Amino acid sequence: MLLRITQFGEPILKQKGEPVTVFDDGLKKLAADMLEAMYEADGIGLAAQQIDKAIQLFVMDLQVREREVDFQYTLDGRTPPLDLIMPLAMVNPEVEAFGEEQPYDEGCLSFPGVRGNVIRPSQVRVRYQDLDGQSHTLECDGIFARVILHENDHLQGVLFIERMHPDTLRGQESKLKKLKRASRDFLKRRR
Ligand code: NI
Repeated sequence: MLLRITQFGEPILKQKGEPVTVFDDGLKKLAADMLEAMYEADGIGLAAQQIDKAIQLFVMDLQVREREVDFQYTLDGRTPPLDLIMPLAMVNPEVEAFGEEQPYDEGCLSFPGVRGNVIRPSQVRVRYQDLDGQSHTLECDGIFARVILHENDHLQGVLFIERMHPDTLRGQESKLKKLKRASRDFLKRRR
């Protein structure tokens, strides 16, 4: 089933996700459905809030960007080939960010047409569980770190526009207003 991606203005996007405690086939199916929706929308990351569920789960796949951008990573102290670890689902992530702060032009599937520079630390260390409940530690930089920070924000109910410089945000205001209006109409119809 192709899941609908929630849009800016829908309250679920501002909701912090509950920890995941049950690692069953339902969770695996949900992650697979999220990946399907993400690929369909041509994205590289998707958080549970974006498919209308406030839980601590996001998915990502960097394979399409591998040749474009350099990044390094270790997973549990090793560096397996990227295609062995992607697509990646992270459950109950605990993220530590460090390193130099860097700007990067970000977009978000819940904000079609909206883009802008967001400044974030360049490295992360994340402890998370996989879909079987096994714990892992991933360290990475570059776009890998960037996607984890963006998606982890979603899990806290934090949106990338909240991290944009006010000048950057001002340039996106009319698009944001349009999105908000569309969401209001959508929510009204759904009621
Ligand atoms: Ni996003």
